[in-house]
Parts: sequence; C-alpha cells; structure tokens
Amino acid sequence: MELRRRLRFPGTETYWDRRYEAGGSSGAGSYGPQAEWKARVVNGWVAEREVTSVVDLGCGDGNQLALAEYPRYLGLDLSAAAVRLCIRRFADDPTKSFLSYDPGSSADPAGWLRADMSLSMEVLFHLVDDGMFEDYLARLFDSADRYVVVCSSDRADLTQGPHERHRPFTPWVERNRLGWTIEERVDPPSDIALVSSLYLFRRS
Ligand SMILES: C[S@@+](CC[C@H](N)C(=O)[O-])C[C@H]1O[C@@H](n2cnc3c(N)ncnc32)[C@H](O)[C@@H]1O
Repeated sequence: MELRRRLRFPGTETYWDRRYEAGGSSGAGSYGPQAEWKARVVNGWVAEREVTSVVDLGCGDGNQLALAEYPRYLGLDLSAAAVRLCIRRFADDPTKSFLSYDPGSSADPAGWLRADMSLSMEVLFHLVDDGMFEDYLARLFDSADRYVVVCSSDRADLTQGPHERHRPFTPWVERNRLGWTIEERVDPPSDIALVSSLYLFRRS
C-alpha cells in the first residue's frame, strides 16, 4: 500500500503546483491557531534579536506570512503557483519580495539570496527525496548570516502521506554545519495540534 501510494506521487514540485493551481492551500498548519502560535514565536525572535532581513525557503500560499512582522523579506518557493499567489496577495507591501525558485538550476555563492535570518516553515518533512532534503538544508544554512529558524518534526515515527517524509534533521546540522548551535527550541502548547516544533539556530 505504502509503495503504491509513493509510486503515484508525482514529485514535490508537481505535487505543490497542482495543489495550488487547484485552489488548495499550504496546509492546515499555516492557518488558524497553529499559524498564530508559530507567528507569535518567530515574530518574538525577530524583534528580540533585531533581525534586519529574512529569506524564506518555501513561502507557500502566504497565509502564514500574513501574520509575520519582518522588516525586510524575500520569499522563495519551488512552486511558481505559490509565488504567484504571494505576489498578488502582498502587491501593496513594499517590504516583501518573491521569487520562483528552482534549486536544480540556481546557485548563490555571491549571496544575493542571503539574509540575516533564513526560515523554513513546515517544508522539511515535505522533502521526500534524500538529495533534495540535503540540498535544501545546505542552502538554508548557507542563506543565513546570523540565524536559521526551522519549523519541523525531528523524528521518523509519525504517520505520513505520500507527499511527506518525516525524519530527524538535527543530526544533519550537527554533522554538516559545525558552526551552528540550537539557541532555542519551542514545542507547541498541548492545545495546538501540530507535530512540528520551532528551532532557532545561531551561528557561533
Ligand atoms: C506545507 S507548505 C508550507 C508553506 C509555508 N512555509 C507556510 O508555513 O505556510 C510547503 C511549501 O514548501 C515548498 N517547497 C517544497 N520543496 C521546496 C524546496 N526544495 N525549495 C523551496 N520550496 C519548497 C512547497 O512548494 C510548499 O509551498
């Protein structure tokens, strides 16, 4: 059953493009109390640490972003349909830029896509492919000057759909980004239905 469902999965980019083009959203975790809890924590980190700019790898439909308080923001997404939604939604907001992002044909050693903080909100467990998972994490950490924020599960033993693959990501950071440490981890309160926690990494 599991294999059959996986074989029907069209790939991450196609899956999300089709979903957004059919009027679907970024998911329940980007709406309602879950989104409000995440925004409260991340907005607090940004304000307390005087973060000057944020780059978001996987901005989605922009509903989570509508609650964000960031001085300057760049949203990237693998799905061009998601980026078009955000461009329309934030057309009057001069602090937010958006870019459709194909990691397979982009490289940024000169740091044009870098920011004070990089952000990954419920993207990691949607990366079913090992190569994409590792490439995404490398780009996420290489896009940040001071802080990286990750909202994700960090374990494999969770129920998952064909477009999901929950797995630990903190061991990858420990092995591959030695200069980064977890400054804070915040778990959702018991009345918030979310498998993800929020992690704040700091460059040491
Ligand atoms: C569950 S949604 C979360 C969206 C948004 N971060 C939020 O919290 O509302 C996951 C998003 O990640 C995007 N995505 C998946 N793989 C990606 C990658 N390698 N690089 C950038 N975006 C990616 C998908 O297109 C989708 O919009």
